[in-house]
Amino acid sequence: MKISDWHERFKLQSSWTHDLRNFIFAKINAQPGQNLLDVGVGTGALLDEYTSRGLQVTGLDLDLENCQFSNMHPSKSTIFNADAHHMPFKARQFDLTVTHYVLLWVHDPAQVVDEMKRVTKTGGYVVAFAEPDYHSRIDYPQVFQDLGKIQNRSLAFQGVDLSMGRKLGHIFRTIGLKDVRLGLLAGQWRYPEKDVFDQEWDIIAFDLGGLVPVDEIITMKERALKSWLAGESTVFIPTFYAYGMV
Ligand SMILES: C[S@@+](CC[C@H](N)C(=O)[O-])C[C@H]1O[C@@H](n2cnc3c(N)ncnc32)[C@H](O)[C@@H]1O
Repeated sequence: MKISDWHERFKLQSSWTHDLRNFIFAKINAQPGQNLLDVGVGTGALLDEYTSRGLQVTGLDLDLENCQFSNMHPSKSTIFNADAHHMPFKARQFDLTVTHYVLLWVHDPAQVVDEMKRVTKTGGYVVAFAEPDYHSRIDYPQVFQDLGKIQNRSLAFQGVDLSMGRKLGHIFRTIGLKDVRLGLLAGQWRYPEKDVFDQEWDIIAFDLGGLVPVDEIITMKERALKSWLAGESTVFIPTFYAYGMV
């Protein structure tokens, strides 16, 4: 996929968690003028939202291409190409240090959350908005179960921790954040439409490629689309959030 396609995918993903961010920002009383660090900023899918809240945004990502894409963004943000395990910031620099669909990808999530804590001011907050637990996924009927198993194999192969979600609370508590709150993103579905299927399928097909022959992918797509449009299917990946004060 091209980087602009990934950006669209990340924007779609961030739309699922929009209400949750409003809820958490209200809980932690985020105020315009505060500075926020987005760890694993990716293509900058959340930059507009953060800057439109009046936050001063810094982003950090390991991937240079993502950083360059984020840097072209019209929102005024400062982007660093660096590793979240060793951030190039002094201690207690940020009011809010947040991350969104990133800890499942990193080598040592506890170290990253500890770094997030280090760079956050006393009284500030560390927030993980969304960390999925692919090992607990619910897929129905059979065609989606088959797809789910292959997608999990592919994600594990790409280095994803398929049980990240369930570990989030433990990590936040053991590194010593205060008043840790933990929760699960609720699922809400409208009547299944083809455009939603197509958006989902692009990413599934990306994950299946290399593991399944192309003719099998095409057959699975036809079966999955039929089931989807008949309103039979359920695909739910429990996704956890956590926040705590420094
Ligand atoms: C699924 S993307 C999420 C991007 C963005 N947070 C969003 O929600 O649109 C995961 C991002 O984490 C970044 N990443 C993975 N490991 C990292 C690390 N050790 N340090 C910094 N960024 C990392 C990847 O380069 C990628 O941009």
